[in-house]
Amino acid sequence: MASLIPKPRKKLVFLASGRGSNLEAVLQGIQKGKIPGNPAFLVTDNPEALSIQIAAKYKVPSKILDFRSFSKKEEYHKNLLELLQEISPDLIVACGYMRILKPEIIRAFPNRIINIHPSLLPAFTGLHAQKQAFDYGVKIAGCTSHFVDEGVDSGPIILQGVVKIEEGMSERELTLAILKEEHKILPLAVQYFCEDRLSIKDRKVSIL
Ligand code: GRF
Repeated sequence: MASLIPKPRKKLVFLASGRGSNLEAVLQGIQKGKIPGNPAFLVTDNPEALSIQIAAKYKVPSKILDFRSFSKKEEYHKNLLELLQEISPDLIVACGYMRILKPEIIRAFPNRIINIHPSLLPAFTGLHAQKQAFDYGVKIAGCTSHFVDEGVDSGPIILQGVVKIEEGMSERELTLAILKEEHKILPLAVQYFCEDRLSIKDRKVSIL
């Protein structure tokens, strides 16, 4: 018999460095009641990130760890790990976080960090993925929400969104079309996580 006691909502932390449109897509999903998650904090490395304003609009507090204020990179990463451990989220959502997470952080939150990447992985990892795909001349592009492992954009894939590259499409149009898909698959991946519907076996993610 199913339990009548409602499951506690998952505690979420967002990591973002910039504009925050993916952050907003997830916060909208929570606001509309689709995602059973509690947004605890936005953590950003960039005090000028527009994401801070987006978070404030949804009454989510921000913690700013200004990357440039640390004389040693290691200090920044150490502080980030300590902050995340102190907050102790169920899930970390990297949405436009522009730094590579150190293995210590990934090991502290195994299969509990989700990232959004603007390509159909495993193609076009790293920076400027949309431009890489456009310049390569692929006919199908898209985006991927995935768990973060110790490689670059190499963790188990949760969902992918597809964009067909039409004749004459510009790189900008492609980037916008991919972003529209990102705003669908990131909230959905977070929703499935919060509903305990994701299971991983041999790096394959099943949606239960
Ligand atoms: C997105 O394209 C995301 O895939 C990439 O960085 C961009 C962030 O955009 N990782 P936004 O800050 O969510 O608007």
